[in-house]
Amino acid sequence: MIHVAVLGYGTVGSGVVEVIETNKEAIDKRSAANLNIKYILDLRDFPGDPYENKVVHEYDIILNDPEVAIICETMGGLHPAYEFSKQALLAGKSVCTSNKELVASHGPELIRIARENHCNYLFEASVGGGIPIIRPLNYSLTAEKIDSITGILNGTTNYILTKMDKEGADFEEVLKEAQDKGYAERNPEADVEGYDACRKIAILSSLMCGKNVGYEEIYTEGITKISSRDFLYAKQMDKSIKLLAMSRDREDGFFAMVAPFLIPRSHPLYSVNGVFNAVYVHGNMLGDSMYYGRGAGKLPTASAVVSDVVDCARHLGKTVMCFWENEDVRVADIETDQGKYFVRVDNGQREAVMEAFGALAEISVGISEEFAFITQVMTEREFNEKIKKAGGCINRIRMLSA
Ligand code: HSE
Repeated sequence: MIHVAVLGYGTVGSGVVEVIETNKEAIDKRSAANLNIKYILDLRDFPGDPYENKVVHEYDIILNDPEVAIICETMGGLHPAYEFSKQALLAGKSVCTSNKELVASHGPELIRIARENHCNYLFEASVGGGIPIIRPLNYSLTAEKIDSITGILNGTTNYILTKMDKEGADFEEVLKEAQDKGYAERNPEADVEGYDACRKIAILSSLMCGKNVGYEEIYTEGITKISSRDFLYAKQMDKSIKLLAMSRDREDGFFAMVAPFLIPRSHPLYSVNGVFNAVYVHGNMLGDSMYYGRGAGKLPTASAVVSDVVDCARHLGKTVMCFWENEDVRVADIETDQGKYFVRVDNGQREAVMEAFGALAEISVGISEEFAFITQVMTEREFNEKIKKAGGCINRIRMLSA
């Protein structure tokens, strides 16, 4: 029997218990062991819950129990999740987590401690919820040099942008509806400002490089400036607007960013709608591959945590390889990135724009007070200089090439 403890009996923690109990037979078979949930750590009591007798309030009970071999950290937040995870690994107990904030901040250190103590720190659920993406990057695409990753990594913003696209609604209106339905948090900042997607692409980028890509280094722009008018123009161009998180292994260095992009109908990410996530990976031998599914929610996320529990059970006393060294990767400045831009300005700026940008393609949807256009390919630095010369803009959105 392998004893498991769950830290935090919230949405994901209770999902972990449900997944292990619902699929017990298959999970035990695949683990080649009988998995037993011995403890659930939470500050609260759960009278009437079938697992109420497993609930403990002191972490030391779990830490000091030599029978506990695997810990699921589903508490979220940095503290005390960091201290609890570190103590568990130092005691030789494997940790499986859904905590993207902690993985993005302390991943290489916790992986190293796991290696030194012959156990595992696994984090499949930290990116893309239930979508297998960490394991493919670690174990499956090992013959590839991965040169780019482009992901829709946040379900809340994808839900909002999809609604704006399909219903012509404005950002604030859809956000409120999403909050009322419980899809978006009451404090939606981490999602709508792109911070959540930034943590997730930092994790994927680190696995892509085998070194540490700090999330603080990644240029991040959210979706709060996207309006229903932007979608009118997007439709006219047969495109949609998605919050993309991307990393590129460019000739001049490594680059990563999070921002809304106009994407063409022909791109596989165009059809990723609602709360779904997808990760589009390009390898130098395989070419393109895409990983798609539910990026959030109780059971999808818990399923990914439990897949790590099975991996730990199969490798008790051994560390499965994860290439994420502590050495920091320098992320190229956003000003060096190149692309085309969709831009909206006041109609009165038309001449100034023509003078600053030269060749451009006008996009018209019959809004007389505006002039909208697509630029030529240029760097962010060039774009910023030209748009400043032209007197600024109402909005600009980067364009993803097909
Ligand atoms: N807030 C996140 C999202 C939850 O909307 O995708 C999953 O990490």
